[in-house]
Amino acid sequence: MRSSQEQRVLFITPEVFPFCKTGGLGDVSAALPAALRMLNTDVRLLLPGYPQVLAGAKYQYQVFEFKELAHFPPAVLLSARISLNKAEHIPAFIIDCPGLYRRDGGPYMDEYGRDWPDNALRFGLLAKIGAILSSDASPIAWRPHIAHCNDWQSGLTPAYLHFHSGKKAATVMTIHNLAFQGVFPPGSAVQLGLPPASFDINGVEYYGNMSFLKAGLYYADHITTVSPSYAEEIQTEPLGFGLQGLLAGRRQSITGIINGISLNEWDPATDRNVIKNYSSKKLPDKSVNKLAVQHELGLTESPGVPLLGVVSRLNHQKGTDLLIDIAPQLAALPAQLAILGNGPAELEHRLAMLALTYPGVIAVRMGFNERLSHLIEAGADCFLMPSRFEPCGLNQMYSQRYGTPPVVHATGGLKDTVVDCTPQTLANGSASGFVFAPSTADELMGAIKRAIETYHDKKTWQRLQKNGMAKDFSWNASATAYRELYLTLRG
Ligand code: ADP
Ligand code: GLC
Repeated sequence: MRSSQEQRVLFITPEVFPFCKTGGLGDVSAALPAALRMLNTDVRLLLPGYPQVLAGAKYQYQVFEFKELAHFPPAVLLSARISLNKAEHIPAFIIDCPGLYRRDGGPYMDEYGRDWPDNALRFGLLAKIGAILSSDASPIAWRPHIAHCNDWQSGLTPAYLHFHSGKKAATVMTIHNLAFQGVFPPGSAVQLGLPPASFDINGVEYYGNMSFLKAGLYYADHITTVSPSYAEEIQTEPLGFGLQGLLAGRRQSITGIINGISLNEWDPATDRNVIKNYSSKKLPDKSVNKLAVQHELGLTESPGVPLLGVVSRLNHQKGTDLLIDIAPQLAALPAQLAILGNGPAELEHRLAMLALTYPGVIAVRMGFNERLSHLIEAGADCFLMPSRFEPCGLNQMYSQRYGTPPVVHATGGLKDTVVDCTPQTLANGSASGFVFAPSTADELMGAIKRAIETYHDKKTWQRLQKNGMAKDFSWNASATAYRELYLTLRG
């Protein structure tokens, strides 16, 4: 095998923890590059200069000014360092374009949940500069062998590179979620500087519009998904979201690589967001966190009633409606439910009504709250993820590591990372949660009942908790798989 010592990768992403995170992509964009750097791969991030990124990144200096980039406003390229903690740092290029990125609100939407109207331009610029830096047109000396694109926001990079005739990096397009496709009006392709010929079924055209993600999937040298099961699921209806034909046609160029988790951020023995640290050898200490969740959320402070936790974007994908449907049955079990999430007003309203109907039993906190997400992982007895589809999912892995067995629908990464509790899996030591299918309220309720029966059998429950806590969810194996993939693409 050739040495990967000199392997250089530009990791193009719209999010990175701790500065910008709306979901798992933020976590992955920090932890995977950090793990790759441990494997002697020179990974650097390319990020939009949102206010939080500009305020938090260290050692910033200007490396180039894109004064006259056709189709885009002027932008400055900064070099900086993203510190994840005292030990882990990732070099980053930040695109400072005040008119596009320096604004209040989220990375994709304003504070009212409306998409920014100039998203095509905002992420077109990210992809364009990603392509320039990955080619012999780059104004800087550091030149990557691989441009690693993540989700639709960087999907145009492989398209721009395809139409560049000089030397260029190989491209990897990672699908974190096929449901978000970056669809814009047909004229956008030419407005963003792609040749008219690219607006074709064999190109960026997608049912009459243009799609950033389709562009990436069509032009990238290789495609990855964030779990092996999801790689299969997207090649057929309904999880192909209209792209199943293209994906099935490219099946030889698709690899499913399961995400890992950051053991620095998510370790119950060291987590600074929990009230009392614990480990599999000190499991009784976990109950202090349960009382803390009950106290903070206004639930009845009873140690013996099973506490079910949810931390999630609230939407159809995550099965929020299924949770609402079973809530009255849950309350009657009895069990408590603690939900942290954010989503459309209609769902938030329905959840708020549930909390009002079942005071002390169901508690809901809206908004994005990193600290509370860790505390719920630590304090809940069981974690619910009834996602209709889940490309990978991180919380089921956090939950297992925190001794909080998850109840999950058998889909995507949930299926790949949770082992259903049965007499056989208990006997061979692999059981780590409860898996159900299909994704109906009845099946979800059935799995929760199984979980609660097991919960009341303390010895078996502890075995389940310890099995999950002992599993290796580190990035080592997956980062190695990416490094190997990069090497074959360079070849
Ligand atoms: P997705 O990326 O589809 O939202 P993942 O399971 O991959 O799902 O990752 C979700 C990440 O976002 C996890 O780190 C989870 O803890 C976090 N998260 C989701 N909702 C919230 C919230 N309301 N507050 C804090 N963290 C949240
Ligand atoms: C997406 C997916 C989620 C995955 C995350 C990180 O947001 O919905 O399943 O874990 O990306 O890859």
